[in-house]
Amino acid sequence: MGMVLAATALKIRAVVSHGPGSVSALKMEDIDRPAPADDGVLVRVRASSANPVDLFTITPVAHMQRGLKGAVVGTDFAGTVEAVGKNVTRFEPGDDVFGGARGAFAEYLAISEQGALVRKPAGVPFDQAGAVTVAGSTALQALRDHGRVQAGQRVLINGASGGVGTFAVQIARSFGAEVTAVCSTRNVELVRSIGAQRVIDYTTEDFTLGGERYDLMLDVAGNRSWSECLRVLEAGPLTSGLGQPASSTGRAVDGGRSAISSRCGWVRCVAAGAW
Ligand SMILES: NC(=O)c1ccc[n+]([C@@H]2O[C@H](COP(=O)([O-])OP(=O)(O)OC[C@H]3O[C@@H](n4cnc5c(N)ncnc54)[C@H](OP(=O)(O)O)[C@@H]3O)[C@@H](O)[C@H]2O)c1
Repeated sequence: MGMVLAATALKIRAVVSHGPGSVSALKMEDIDRPAPADDGVLVRVRASSANPVDLFTITPVAHMQRGLKGAVVGTDFAGTVEAVGKNVTRFEPGDDVFGGARGAFAEYLAISEQGALVRKPAGVPFDQAGAVTVAGSTALQALRDHGRVQAGQRVLINGASGGVGTFAVQIARSFGAEVTAVCSTRNVELVRSIGAQRVIDYTTEDFTLGGERYDLMLDVAGNRSWSECLRVLEAGPLTSGLGQPASSTGRAVDGGRSAISSRCGWVRCVAAGAW
């Protein structure tokens, strides 16, 4: 049976944006502890991580959207459920969870139980779980939903050693794809260790000139032209899309082909062949 916390005057520490500006203008402040809604849970945050999408909070657009009010920064989190609203059925105090919600750079956050919130597997440490949601869901959406990755496909991941790329390598392998990863020298062993069967060091080799062809390309680095990307794909109809964190907006266009815009940057996924 869940315990419902009364809204109290208890203060918590949080990283707050008061207006458009740079990261250096963010302030660590004492704010009121949020209270869970009837369908929500209060999470004691044990770990969080920073992603490009977190910068949106400090943009003029975000500031206007929230009526010029301050906002707590951060999205990814892992922590422990402290209290639940009276209608909550899936969680109870003491559950270890992870997910994504606005306001994660704080000691506590409130989130609907229907939000991006799941139980944390027991063997996964909080710091690892707190770095999964935004980058991991971006890679998953790009490869599975837009790229429609299939077992046996040859997949090229340009920018394989960073936040999105390291998830993409592992996700593509879990779908049974054969993965070629592009990164710099210092990360060659890293991407091999997470499953890439072939690695191209972009400091010594240009993947667009090697003559290799792929069924699907995920362009996380976003530093190559469309014509260069198309050159490495098998001939056939194309579908393109990009991963985006669940918290950002997007739009789909054109039935056969799709593209989604993200506020925080492009992760382009290009696939060859019809399905
Ligand atoms: N992180 C997210 O959750 C997220 C969500 C949606 C969209 N995005 C967008 O996705 C893009 C990447 O984000 P990220 O968080 O993955 O960035 P990141 O952690 O900085 O990773 C960047 C990747 O690009 C590689 N790279 C750099 N220069 C390259 C080059 N010349 N050729 C090929 N690869 C190169 C890096 O390899 P080395 O380090 O080995 O040089 C690294 O693998 C950004 O535009 C971001 O806005 C990110």
